[in-house]
Amino acid sequence: MKLRRTHDCSGLRKKDTGKEVIISGWVHKWRDHGGVIFIDLRDREGITQVVFGRGEGQGTESGLVRAARGLRSEWVISVKGKVETRPSGTVNTGLDTGEIEVIADEVEILNKSKTPPFDVFSSEEVSDEIRMKYRYIDLRKQNMMRTMILRSKVNRVVRNFFYDKGFIELETPILTKSTPEGARDYLVPSRMDKGSFYAMPQSPQLFKQLLMVAGLDKYFQIAKCFRDEDLRRDRQPEFTQIDFEMSFVNEEDICGIIEALVSEVFKSALKVDIKLPFPCMKYEEAMNRYGTDRPDTRFGLELVDITGIAEGCGFKVFKEAAGKGGIVSGINVKGGAPEFSRKGIDDLTALAQEYGAKGLAWIKVTSKGPESAITKFFKKEELDSITHKMKAGEGDLLLFVADKPKVVCEALSGLRLQLGEKLGLIPAEDKKVFSFQWVVGHPMFEYNEDEKRWQAMHHPFTAPVEEDIEKLDKEGLNTGKLRSRAYDLVLNGMEVGGGSIRIHRKGLQDKVFELLQIKPEAAREKFGFLLDALEYGAPPHGGFAFGMDRLIMILSGARSIRDVIAFPKTQRAACPLTGAPSKVTEKQLKELDLKIIK
Ligand code: AMO
Ligand code: AMP
Repeated sequence: MKLRRTHDCSGLRKKDTGKEVIISGWVHKWRDHGGVIFIDLRDREGITQVVFGRGEGQGTESGLVRAARGLRSEWVISVKGKVETRPSGTVNTGLDTGEIEVIADEVEILNKSKTPPFDVFSSEEVSDEIRMKYRYIDLRKQNMMRTMILRSKVNRVVRNFFYDKGFIELETPILTKSTPEGARDYLVPSRMDKGSFYAMPQSPQLFKQLLMVAGLDKYFQIAKCFRDEDLRRDRQPEFTQIDFEMSFVNEEDICGIIEALVSEVFKSALKVDIKLPFPCMKYEEAMNRYGTDRPDTRFGLELVDITGIAEGCGFKVFKEAAGKGGIVSGINVKGGAPEFSRKGIDDLTALAQEYGAKGLAWIKVTSKGPESAITKFFKKEELDSITHKMKAGEGDLLLFVADKPKVVCEALSGLRLQLGEKLGLIPAEDKKVFSFQWVVGHPMFEYNEDEKRWQAMHHPFTAPVEEDIEKLDKEGLNTGKLRSRAYDLVLNGMEVGGGSIRIHRKGLQDKVFELLQIKPEAAREKFGFLLDALEYGAPPHGGFAFGMDRLIMILSGARSIRDVIAFPKTQRAACPLTGAPSKVTEKQLKELDLKIIK
């Protein structure tokens, strides 16, 4: 490399006119204007226009211009030249460097490029598989590059934030023992101890608790986590958490830290002022009003429980559900009656069924009163109570699902989101609406119907509400009613983070394992090190983990989590670029004492 860069491709301005500079990058665009060659030269920072054939003594057939004519898209070059102010009328207001151009007097070709497998700079749809196979080309796209730079910026803001608040940054092991967060582990076989496996951490959970026992209060880490679970738009098998833990704190302390961090990140990344504190809602309230513990609070269409009215009505579907411990809830689609024809309602019914409902009952409120095939099963007072409770007026469409609470919640919350989208109730992204919501006090346990046992809703190290524990012992409180000291942060309907106050006494931890039907021997085998640590002066502590990738998704407006990770995995947890996961050699398997059984 002969020419050594003096500026990046976004660094030059009008005030630099007259300077001799060297810039390097990729040939972004190439145009021949009657023998004068114009090149847009691109690097990470931006684009600068370079002109060949307008310098002193350079005819259109000079060696320099001929070399420039041979350049092609995505070749890598360095150019030496002089900065000039662009002639009036040729200023490009779309570029930071749009007022200048560099008149080349020397070019060095650093590398050629094959024609890329897709046009990096057109809006043509390219399959995700191809984009990921040639990720190093895909990342050249301006929006991808911007997102990666944003990610780096956020990392820096986060680090500065925690350091300023007196936190220490520590790493925890990647080769470790399973730290269950409810997903399957990725396993790594041991060569030294054949037949044994490390697990990759699903989170630094147990280690950060041990750091608190050590007295290394106020820890944070930007931590890689690994979970072998079904992937979705906002889930990757390997992802990043902003993870922290503190001692001698309660819920307010931890939530306060998160709010301050979020405010700082949004201010520096988006120049948006987020209103603090975030509103807070109990888990039950979230379930009752939105049917989910991840409520999208940017719009209404809230659920209304009418079980009390349905119990006594003559409509079998409602009456039976209400009688069997189920519930009946509805949504009032304001002014929706004219919009949804029979066919429209059939489509909504099909949708509700996709979410698990058996059907969807509906009532249209017209000038003549409630109209529907089911109104005949209700007394006038019952219909009045329903419309009153649902604040329904003329022109409204009421939709109902009757079933077990879980089914009703899933169906109506799914329907609500689809309706929100369809009716344009969700603000467009450029409106920059960020609706944060704390959801707190989740039940400690939920019942797993398939496995016929209780499982931790967060993780088994979350502390229960103390008075509930007393009630459990004294009054035989139902296990499912035990509330936890957990808190989740939801943003526009996406869970962006979660945490809790932890159990710091061994007796209580034993009790929780017992309720989870984990036998003492099994608890010892899995978590003996934690149980031991709790007996050596564990302070009260709590913490939180923020999903970094989800945060970047929101900040950048990316639709998929894959667009905020430099080298993401496909839906099948594969990497088309490297071909991972891949077969290994017989020798490697033998060293590990492993055999592949087909
Ligand atoms: P949790 O399991 O809720 O808590 O994870 C915290 C946050 O991490 C993000 N997240 C993910 N992001 C992308 N892909 C995934 N597969 C994925 N899974 C989780 C989410 C989530 O809110 N140890 C606890 C935290 C604590 O109690 O301190 C934990 O890991 O944004
Ligand atoms: P059926 O009695 O099955 O003909 O249903 C009468 C109406 O009730 C139809 O509009 C169904 O879609 C609706 N329906 C059926 N099951 C349910 C349910 N579990 N919840 C709400 N509506 C239902």
